[in-house]
Amino acid sequence: MLDGKSILLVVTGGIAAYKCLEVIRRVREKGARVRCILTRGGANFVTPLALGALSEDRVFQDLFSLTDEHEIGHIRLSREADVVLVAPASANVLAKMAAGQADDLATTALLATDKPIMVAPAMNPAMWAHPATRANMAILEGRGVHRVGPTEGAMAESGEWGLGRMAEPDAIVAALESLFGGAADGLLKDRRALVTSGPTHEAIDPVRYLANRSSGKQGHAVATALARLGAATTLVSGPTHQPAPAGVHLVRVETAREMLDACLAALPVDVAVMAAAVADWRPADAARNKLKKPAKGGKSGGKSAPPALKLVENPDILATLGGRNEGRPQLVVGFAAETDAVVENAVAKRRAKGCDWLVANDVSAAAATFGGDDNQVHLITADGVEEWPKISKSAVAERLAQRIAETLEPA
Ligand code: C5P
Repeated sequence: MLDGKSILLVVTGGIAAYKCLEVIRRVREKGARVRCILTRGGANFVTPLALGALSEDRVFQDLFSLTDEHEIGHIRLSREADVVLVAPASANVLAKMAAGQADDLATTALLATDKPIMVAPAMNPAMWAHPATRANMAILEGRGVHRVGPTEGAMAESGEWGLGRMAEPDAIVAALESLFGGAADGLLKDRRALVTSGPTHEAIDPVRYLANRSSGKQGHAVATALARLGAATTLVSGPTHQPAPAGVHLVRVETAREMLDACLAALPVDVAVMAAAVADWRPADAARNKLKKPAKGGKSGGKSAPPALKLVENPDILATLGGRNEGRPQLVVGFAAETDAVVENAVAKRRAKGCDWLVANDVSAAAATFGGDDNQVHLITADGVEEWPKISKSAVAERLAQRIAETLEPA
């Protein structure tokens, strides 16, 4: 997919810059050529020597270098590439790109290019959450700039936890591959896939809701993996912090009922993977106005009971798709999050839900699955139970997508 492609890598300032060395190595292994622009900020974290050695090309740093201008020029540099990747993309470079500023070689090339741009933001969580950065990113995405990450995790410099870590090299490489529609000749070409991901939010009143701890990492990774194999993939996701995967049609929903509607609208599909943690229940009647605490010293002396929540059952999306007589996807895959008797419960659940496969994982506190990067799963099929090793959520997704491709009957 990346074979023969040319990537212009812009490295801006940030501790994550070391990860771009691994990105260069991986894309070159896949046959791509990499040329690097290193900003002054970036040069504080990686050296031109390291970038030059790995890319086996010269590294461009200075806008006004006569030699560089003589040999290639910034316009040509930015246009000879098939894609411009900014990794890490600092808050500063995003701001300059949004404003159209061009005060160094990197920003000049970014303004001059006529090729797709992908950014891999990396910054402190407060900077990423700042309304200025949010607005800049929205402007850029509105102009068609692609984004991969950031992800959640510990910050190298401050030990703070939050959203702002640069996407891992394998996620960046995957995003580049999907950008090139790499999957056009993949194992799942001409196939349609539906994936659900994330939690659902069920309103109690206009400001409160019932939810769960699902991060959406596993479901988003499954959608990415299916798209990479060429499937036309719709991802129906509840509220998450995960970035939209490249090359996937993303439908954002809040509630289980909205998720069901979006799934039915995405049919027909060849395969449906239901990885969302759909709320089993919702409040029977969401209050129109915010529920109030009884006033202290009121008639009841502030002693009245808190409001009772009456819950009703949500539709079961997996069982609905698995049980369809007409237009049932050829392969329906469920996920089961269990805290005890994982395999026994999952075997029973596969039958009860009418799905073909069930991917069971342990979400007890000890397994640290929720929000974590790794997952240890069992794949339950009609033929039995397979125990998969503890691997990253993206590796689980790739393995599952591969199995799906091997299992679907020829189109
Ligand atoms: O019953 P449980 O919630 O453990 O089942 C998990 C599986 O069922 C997941 O695949 C989940 O996406 C799906 N599910 C659903 N709709 C619901 C509840 C669960 O699709 N209302």
